[in-house]
Amino acid sequence: MTRQLSRADNLIHQFDTILRTLVPHAARPSRPSPAANLEETPMNEADREHVVGLMRINHTGEVCAQALYQGQGLTAKLPDTREQMEQAAQEEIDHLAWCDARIEELDGRTSLLNPAFYMASFGLGAIAGAVGDRISLGFVAATEEQVGKHLDDHLQKLPTDDRRSRAILEQMREDEAHHERWALEAGGTRFPLPVKLGMRLMSKVMTKSVYRL
Ligand SMILES: [Fe+2]
Ligand SMILES: [Fe+2]
Repeated sequence: MTRQLSRADNLIHQFDTILRTLVPHAARPSRPSPAANLEETPMNEADREHVVGLMRINHTGEVCAQALYQGQGLTAKLPDTREQMEQAAQEEIDHLAWCDARIEELDGRTSLLNPAFYMASFGLGAIAGAVGDRISLGFVAATEEQVGKHLDDHLQKLPTDDRRSRAILEQMREDEAHHERWALEAGGTRFPLPVKLGMRLMSKVMTKSVYRL
C-alpha cells in the first residue's frame, strides 16, 4: 500500500514538474531575479526582438536542463549526489522563471518547440542515467559547459545598455559554472571531443530554430 502510494506520489511529482516547466509563468523561483532592482532601458523594436530571441534560447536551454535532471532522476542511482542534483535543478527553475519573466516584460513569448525539446532531453537524461552515474554526471558537466559558452556569446550579443537581461545571464553563468564543477568533482566523466562536438551541433540546431520559433 505504502509502495503504491509513493509510486503515485512520485508520478504526481513528475507530472507537476513537467507542467511547471512547460506552462508559461508556472515556475516559482526560490531567489529573486537579479534584474529586480535594475531600471528598464528603452529599446527600439529591432533590439527588443533580438533580446527576446536570445532570452527565448536561454529559456529553452533551461527547459532542457529541467528535463535532463528529471530524466536522470528516474534512472540514475547517484546516492551521494542526489541532494546536490536537486539543488542544481532548483537553481535551473530560478533561471527558467527569470528568463520567462524577462521575455514577458519585453512582450515576447517562449518557444513553441519547448515540448519537443523537453521530450528529447528527458530521453537523453534517462539514457545517460541508466548507462551509469559517471556518464550521467559527465553529461551534466558537458551540458553545463555548452550552456556557459552560449551565455558568454549572448552576453556579447545583448545591447550594451540592457542591464536587466545582462544581470540575469551573468547570475546564470555563475550558477552553471558551479554545476559543471560539481558534476566533475562528483566523478563525472570528461566526454571526448567528438561527443562534445556532437552536442555543440545539436545546440546549434536548437538555437537557430528557437531564436525565431
Ligand atoms: Fe540554468
Ligand atoms: Fe545548470
